[in-house]
Amino acid sequence: MKQIVLLIMSLLVFSSPTKAQEQPADAVRQPGGKILVAYFSCTGTTEKAASAIARAVDGDLYRIVPAVAYTPADLDWTDESSRSSKEMADENSRPALGGGSLDPAEYDAVFLGYPIWWDACPRAVNTFLEKYDFSGKTVIPFATSGSSSIAGSVRKLGALYPEIEWREGRLCNGSTEQAADWARRAIE
Ligand SMILES: Cc1cc2nc3c(=O)[nH]c(=O)nc-3n(C[C@H](O)[C@H](O)[C@H](O)COP(=O)(O)O)c2cc1C
Repeated sequence: MKQIVLLIMSLLVFSSPTKAQEQPADAVRQPGGKILVAYFSCTGTTEKAASAIARAVDGDLYRIVPAVAYTPADLDWTDESSRSSKEMADENSRPALGGGSLDPAEYDAVFLGYPIWWDACPRAVNTFLEKYDFSGKTVIPFATSGSSSIAGSVRKLGALYPEIEWREGRLCNGSTEQAADWARRAIE
């Protein structure tokens, strides 16, 4: 009888997962860790996805705010002299930011959302990435667009900021529920 009890106990010890086993070694969020959901949005589409993602992962939502807001005329991509056309034609353009400040050190990982502009992220997102120190941080991009994929923008970001641990991004043109599901899985 004693041997059977010992056998059952040893089976229980070796088969029940420890805390370390429950938490995959490459999990993005460590126990108690915080997630930042930073986004840029001019007409509200990316903002909807960002809000759903922040709710889904219990993250802190941070809006990347340009010092000077974009007017509809600024966003006219059919006008090559519009503000957005000029900024996107100049890869060194870094529009100034307003908005509150944040401390990247507080976060385990960052979801970074933006609209696709000319197959890239808007230059204000570059200003954001250069204003704060995200080196060594896991950054998970997401985007909305008319139809373009996110791939070109992520490739450019990876080349410009190799010190950041880029994870695979996602185009969030579908429902906010789909964005939320993806985000939950992305940090498991
Ligand atoms: C200046 C500008 C350039 C754009 N370039 C593209 C593009 O290259 N491909 C695309 O599919 N959509 C493009 N769009 C559409 C936006 O990506 C799309 O409307 C996005 O969802 C807007 O997000 P927001 O509402 O968060 O600002 C562009 C929009 C603007 C204003």
